[in-house]
Amino acid sequence: MPPFRVLITRRLPIELDELEAIASVEVWQERQPPPYEWLLEKVKTIDGLLCLLTDPINRPLIEAGTSLKVISQMAVGCDNIDIPAATVRKIPVGHTPGVLTDATADLTWALVMAAARRVVEGDRFTRSGQWKTWEPDLLLGPNVSGATLGIVGMGRIGQAVAQRAKGFDMRILYHSRTRCHLELEQSLGVECVSFDRLLQESDFITIHTPLSEDTHHLFGDAQFEQMKSSAILINTARGPIIDPDALYRALSQGEIAGAALDVTEPEPIPMDSPLLTLDNLIITPHIGSASVQTRRKMAKMAIANLTAGLNGRFLPHCINLEVYSAH
Ligand code: NAP
Ligand code: GLV
Repeated sequence: MPPFRVLITRRLPIELDELEAIASVEVWQERQPPPYEWLLEKVKTIDGLLCLLTDPINRPLIEAGTSLKVISQMAVGCDNIDIPAATVRKIPVGHTPGVLTDATADLTWALVMAAARRVVEGDRFTRSGQWKTWEPDLLLGPNVSGATLGIVGMGRIGQAVAQRAKGFDMRILYHSRTRCHLELEQSLGVECVSFDRLLQESDFITIHTPLSEDTHHLFGDAQFEQMKSSAILINTARGPIIDPDALYRALSQGEIAGAALDVTEPEPIPMDSPLLTLDNLIITPHIGSASVQTRRKMAKMAIANLTAGLNGRFLPHCINLEVYSAH
């Protein structure tokens, strides 16, 4: 009998042989996440948990996991996990940074282009039989090349988006919690500005911060009022960074021109959300990292974190390094 007991909350796109050599592994087989009450019971019996961003790993659940040695999330963002609660219990939490940066920046760029050039509207227009002739003013949108891009959160994904924007000769502004090194600013060709200036001067704004108390509803009525009426907002970070009611007001009243979201509040977006009635909004179902190669890398990284935690070794990618300090 392998020494450890592990729960994986969804099927992964890789083989689990190496993990199965050291642990008895249970994999939740449904497409929908396991119910919270089921997870709460199960966590009492396991040494390692590999979870997804749809699993609420809150304080009561972490406290119930009396034998838990490691929590390993297959995602970079860990806002679904109560990190302080895990840290108090000295449980390291692993995540998957870096391997999904390019895929998420690529999807961000797809949304910039699709929103600017009205790709989704054009597809709906064609399929509904409205395409009768070439027209000088049909489905016009703004230029991306040469426009001003504002990046909020200049971390891994923000920087990868800046690299893509350079190829489009854009003027790139950014606002981030910590200013980048001057050398990086120069190599990316980006200018650090205040949040207000970024809102006022950008033609496109793209969000790449984690969700935290500081970034919850960072975009609301006051921010939309400051943006250009021609501006397009992209969010591939986390849904609750934008107040959805304020976004509806801004888009329906022409305060901004358009938006494209890979993430919503809540997820999935309710089918009666007024946002779904708007033509100037594109929504994709949280697929930022959804390339075949990226998802395999994420799964491998999550297993590596899990295995390290079970064996009492440092996690290769740990979000709460404080668990390793003496006090
Ligand atoms: P990262 O490297 O940690 O970058 C985040 C950046 O945001 C950092 O530069 C951080 O500053 C900055 N930041 C934090 N709080 C801020 C605030 N209040 N105001 C302004 N900037 C702030 O993370 P990443 O790998 O780029 O990922 C970013 C987020 O994208 C993840 O947390 C996740 O939620 C989301 N994501 C979504 C998908 C998807 O499928 N749609 C895929 C991957 C990631 P510091 O340097 O000071 O920390
Ligand atoms: C996806 O949203 C992630 O945080 O990896």
